[in-house]
Amino acid sequence: MTKALIAYFSRKGENYVNGEIKSLEIGNTEVAAQMIQELTGADMFHIEPVQEYSTDYNVCIEEAKRDKGANIRPEFKNPLADISEYDTVYIGFPNYWGTMPMHVWTFMERYDFSGKTIKPFCTHEGSDIGSSEQDIRNLCPNSKVENALSIHGASVSEAKASIENWV
Ligand SMILES: Cc1cc2nc3c(=O)[nH]c(=O)nc-3n(C[C@H](O)[C@H](O)[C@H](O)COP(=O)(O)O)c2cc1C
Repeated sequence: MTKALIAYFSRKGENYVNGEIKSLEIGNTEVAAQMIQELTGADMFHIEPVQEYSTDYNVCIEEAKRDKGANIRPEFKNPLADISEYDTVYIGFPNYWGTMPMHVWTFMERYDFSGKTIKPFCTHEGSDIGSSEQDIRNLCPNSKVENALSIHGASVSEAKASIENWV
């Protein structure tokens, strides 16, 4: 029997949506993660920063840029003890500066993904998945990394059909 996990990073609060700043009550990636959960019944894990990024969009942009520039591995809350029981891991994140938020790098490096199937999904505001899929392939050389699903964040509520197709 196969068992799946959906691990995702998503930030509510101000974001850039179709050219203007709007405040989101639920982050775009979380909306996609919930759709995948409904389709698969998989377990969910929210990769939540110990030190949260600002809900102010312009501040958050700078904080995330700083973390990427310093190539740090920031901690996330309530880490899972291990993920050995899962055969498939859906890993979801927003495109931050062309790749995954640094907390997702922390997550990917913390656990042993050898032999597992990894299905990355990424929400973005125009630049697609960036280097994230290749970054995951490099981080997990002993996993079967499937083609990443790219979702325009502002249109996530209309993405159910493409998500279902990809799942
Ligand atoms: C810090 C930060 C960096 C971002 N960098 C990019 C980027 O490089 N390319 C892009 O298309 N969108 C970028 N975005 C937009 C997000 O990827 C997009 O709005 C995403 O859907 C947000 O997901 P969330 O609501 O789940 O956090 C950035 C947003 C933030 C807050």
